[in-house]
Amino acid sequence: RIPLVIDTDTAQDDCVALLVGLLDPTPDLKAITMVAGNVGFDQQVRNAQLTLAVAGRLGEVPIHLGCRRPLVREWVSAENVHGDGSGGLSVDAAPEVSDEHGVDALIRLAAENPGELRIVAIGPLTNIATALVKDPEFAANVGELFIMGGSNNGRGNITAAAEYNFYVDPEAAKAVFAAGMNITVVPWHPLTIRDAVFSRERLAEIAAIDTTLARFFFTIVETTLAFDESVGIPGSTHPDSLTAAVLLHPELVTAAADYAVDIETGSDLTRGYSAMSWGVHGLASNARVIEAVDADAFFAYVCDLVRAEVLPS
Ligand code: BDR
Ligand code: CA
Repeated sequence: RIPLVIDTDTAQDDCVALLVGLLDPTPDLKAITMVAGNVGFDQQVRNAQLTLAVAGRLGEVPIHLGCRRPLVREWVSAENVHGDGSGGLSVDAAPEVSDEHGVDALIRLAAENPGELRIVAIGPLTNIATALVKDPEFAANVGELFIMGGSNNGRGNITAAAEYNFYVDPEAAKAVFAAGMNITVVPWHPLTIRDAVFSRERLAEIAAIDTTLARFFFTIVETTLAFDESVGIPGSTHPDSLTAAVLLHPELVTAAADYAVDIETGSDLTRGYSAMSWGVHGLASNARVIEAVDADAFFAYVCDLVRAEVLPS
């Protein structure tokens, strides 16, 4: 099985991405590392723990607390989009987290699985950038890094220019793309808001599945659904779970290409903008960018995931 770490700012679709890591039989999810992002750090930890409990895996996969703020900038919350990130659900168990820092866990797991470890990074890239600084071997040890972030020369979702994960810690994102790692990017625009949007009709299909996992899915996505609809997106968006899904199931990808990706850190107006240059610009590529996926197959995959009957722990 593929050794996997999910580096996350756990709220809503991050929870669904955790379900991918926990319920799909393909990976061996070795750790969840937490990074400052969507909602308050401690709430994110509770959301991850809740997801482990719903998946019946509480206490089996360690949660490691990582960086509590971006490298240089102040933390920027997305609570206006996510609420508490769990649709008001909570778990009774006291938060149980590893003593090992998230950055150290990433470094250790990469060293223990050289060239094999896959990382799905679905929050700001602060932990990954810090691991690069702390261990010069980290970049070479990581097999593949799948990043949710940026836009493919398209629209941002927090400013006109920037997607949230890269906006929050642009210096980290810039360092990661400069590190010579084997990187795949799932961008916000146009990919996510075209191929990973679940309409109300589709959400009704999930609700009809009526398992514990389907009910959990439905409750946690409701807040972002309301936000997405208020800004003209016709459904709930699933960039993080798509990132985990395409790592485990490359057959979902229908178009991808190599790009030279760099992140804007100098300008206030375009802070966090992801410039994705293609061949014509003559730059060496440093990442593969997913351009299209089979949206129906991705939806069917998520339905199958929540169809499973698990015993919550
Ligand atoms: C990204 O930011 C968060 O709100 C989501 O979890 C996703 O990782 C989308 O811009
Ligand atoms: Ca996220």
